[in-house]
Amino acid sequence: MELRGKKAMVTGGAGFIGSTLVRELLKEGVEVVVYDNFVSGDRSNLKDVENRVEILEGDILDPNLNDIMRQNGIDCVFNLAAEPYIPHCYDRPRKFFEVNATGALNVMLACKDAGVQRVLQYSSSEVYGSARYVPMDEHHPLRPCSTYAVSKLAADRLCYSLYKEQNLPIIILRQFNTYGPRETHPYIIPELITQLDRGNRLKLGNVKARRDLTYVDDAVKGAIELMQCDKAVGEVVNLGQGRDWSVEELAQIIARLMERQQVDIQVEKVRLRPLDVERLNCSYFKAMTLFNWRPQISLEEGLGRTIDWYRQNGGRWVWETKMATEEEVWHGGEEGKSPDHGGTSGP
Ligand SMILES: NC(=O)c1ccc[n+]([C@@H]2O[C@H](COP(=O)([O-])OP(=O)(O)OC[C@H]3O[C@@H](n4cnc5c(N)ncnc54)[C@H](O)[C@@H]3O)[C@@H](O)[C@H]2O)c1
Repeated sequence: MELRGKKAMVTGGAGFIGSTLVRELLKEGVEVVVYDNFVSGDRSNLKDVENRVEILEGDILDPNLNDIMRQNGIDCVFNLAAEPYIPHCYDRPRKFFEVNATGALNVMLACKDAGVQRVLQYSSSEVYGSARYVPMDEHHPLRPCSTYAVSKLAADRLCYSLYKEQNLPIIILRQFNTYGPRETHPYIIPELITQLDRGNRLKLGNVKARRDLTYVDDAVKGAIELMQCDKAVGEVVNLGQGRDWSVEELAQIIARLMERQQVDIQVEKVRLRPLDVERLNCSYFKAMTLFNWRPQISLEEGLGRTIDWYRQNGGRWVWETKMATEEEVWHGGEEGKSPDHGGTSGP
C-alpha cells in the first residue's frame, strides 16, 4: 500500500517517537492527523509543523473514536498512544493496562468500524524480556518483566487475534529502544546527557543492563516502510540496531562526546527496577528481508545529534516541564508512589 496522498492518523503523535514520525510522513507526502491527549506528549513537539497537520485532542479510550476516524477520512493508523514509562507502571498498573491494552483494542475496533485500510501497532522489545539468545528474532520467547511489558504484549497478541478473527489489516512492530530529540521521559540517554551536562558525577541504576538503541529517525523510517509492506500484514516485525551497549559503556561514550573526563559512576539502589531486563539485542533480519531496511545512523552519530538538540533546546527535555502536572494527575488516582525516577533503561 502506497502511503503518498493518503491520510494517516498518528495516535500519540505529540510524543517522542510520534512527533518524529509525523515529520517523516509529511516528507513522504502523507496527510497527517495527530490524535493525542497530551499526557506525556506536548504541542511544542510539533511546533514547526503545526500548520501542516491536524491536531485533535482526545483519548484512545474514547468510544466515539470510530466516528472521529470516519469524519476525518482516515486511511491508515499508526497506534503509538501509550503509557510507556516503566517506573510509572509500579504505581499505576491499572492505568497502564487500560491505555496500553484496552486502548489498543479500542483503536483496532474503531479502525474496523471506520473501514481503515491498514493499522500499525507499536509493540515493544520489552515483550521478550531478557535475551535468552542474541540477536533476538521474532520467535524469541515472550517473558515480559513489567506491567508495562505485559500490557504491550496483551495489545500485541490482541492485534494478532483481531487480524485473524476480524480480518483487520494489522501489522505489529516490535520496536527496540529508541533515542533522539524530544524524548518525553527520563530514560537512560536523556538522563546521561542531563547529568553529564551538569558535572562529572553520575547517579545511575543497573549499570550492567544492555540495550539495543536505534536513532529515532531510522526507527520511524522503518515504521513507514513497514506500513507500506503488503507482505507484512498479520506479521510481527522487529526494528532495532542489531547491537547492544551497557549503561556503563553508554556513559563513557556520552562523556567523551560531551568532553567530560574521569566520570565517577555511583549506583543508587532507589534507581534499580524490581525486575529488570538485563539484555536486549535485535535481529532485524525479517525487516531486511521484507523491505530491505537496516539502520543508517551509528550510535555516536545519533548521540551527537541528540546532544546538539538538547543544547539548542536550552538544556531541557519536554518531561522536565510536564512532570509537575503529571505528578498532580496520578497522585489524585491510583496506587502509591514509584521509588524510581531517572531509571536505567527504557520501554
Ligand atoms: N521510546 C522507545 O524506546 C520505545 C520502544 C519500543 C516501543 N515504544 C512504543 O512507542 C510508542 C511511543 O512511545 P514514546 O517513547 O514516543 O512515548 P511518548 O510518551 O512520548 O508517547 C506516547 C504518546 O501517547 C500519548 N497518550 C498517552 N495516553 C494516551 C491516551 N489515553 N490517549 C491518547 N494519547 C495518549 C502521550 O501524550 C504521548 O504523546 C509507545 O506505544 C511505546 O510503547 C517506544
